Amino acid sequence: MTAAPRHFLELSAIEAPVLRRILDVAAGFKRNGTDGPGARTLAGKSLAMIFEKPSTRTRVSFEIAMKQLGGDVVVMTATEMQLGRGETVNDTARVLSRYVDAIMIRTADDAVLRELAAGAGVPVINGLTDRSHPCQLMADVMTFEEHRGDIGGRQIAWCGDGNNMARTWIEAAGRFGFSLRLACPAELAPPADSVAWARGEGATVEIFEDPREAVGGADCVVTDTWVSMGQSGAEKRKRMLAPYRVDEDLMSHAGPDAIFMHCLPAHRGEEVSAGVLDGPQSVVWDEAENRLHAQKGILAWCLG
Ligand code: CP
Ligand code: NVA
Repeated sequence: MTAAPRHFLELSAIEAPVLRRILDVAAGFKRNGTDGPGARTLAGKSLAMIFEKPSTRTRVSFEIAMKQLGGDVVVMTATEMQLGRGETVNDTARVLSRYVDAIMIRTADDAVLRELAAGAGVPVINGLTDRSHPCQLMADVMTFEEHRGDIGGRQIAWCGDGNNMARTWIEAAGRFGFSLRLACPAELAPPADSVAWARGEGATVEIFEDPREAVGGADCVVTDTWVSMGQSGAEKRKRMLAPYRVDEDLMSHAGPDAIFMHCLPAHRGEEVSAGVLDGPQSVVWDEAENRLHAQKGILAWCLG
């Protein structure tokens, strides 16, 4: 019997030691460069990527990661596939599995991701859904640890929308053992089921409405766009989220060595001031670079 494919769908679906190993492998790839040991780990392997939403970092980092490891990629948008004309997700999964060694999908609906994984005979990777963005969190944890050491026991503050990134930070708290304080307007609070899950894993996850309370003494302050891809009501969201902007004043409440992270794309003057995003506490460019190294770790694990 063939083993079940190693899907990378959610941090909560993968055990902590496995995530830790993926990060170690990612750090090794980064350290060794493109000619070092393991450089051709994915020679002869191919990845299909399906995008139902725009992407810069995810698309380029996966494509370059595959190529640097000796593999190949096919990139498609759903509208140019038969998927866009009604071919089922399950049939798509079965067909693609006959051509490629792994499939990455960025889609709004988490059910599509799950259906793809259920039908595929090869690993499926979550490249972002409205629910979560686990690949991003692997790069984020990697970045924090490069700058500040082990994230276990540290204090991370989230300010803004309780969106897909917020939910994934909550899952990361459960997996990597840091404490997470989220400041969100009540109407945009993060999902209670994820908070309950992370608490059940032993993580401290606290929700505040006042951003200063969440940020107080934090080792890292994180935010994300106020209007995620596919969301409506931009003006109302911006009004509700204005008090949660991460600016110099809010950062002054964090710990003296606090860093600032953002998965990007950023909107200067909305969720973050230009001074913070482009300032000395910001590690967002390292965070973006680490998408490349983290993808290598994820791909190497998925493809065994
Ligand atoms: N952070 C992130 O996933 O960026 P893209 O939307 O550009 O892929
Ligand atoms: N929350 C954002 C993340 C983008 C990488 C979105 O879903 O648009």
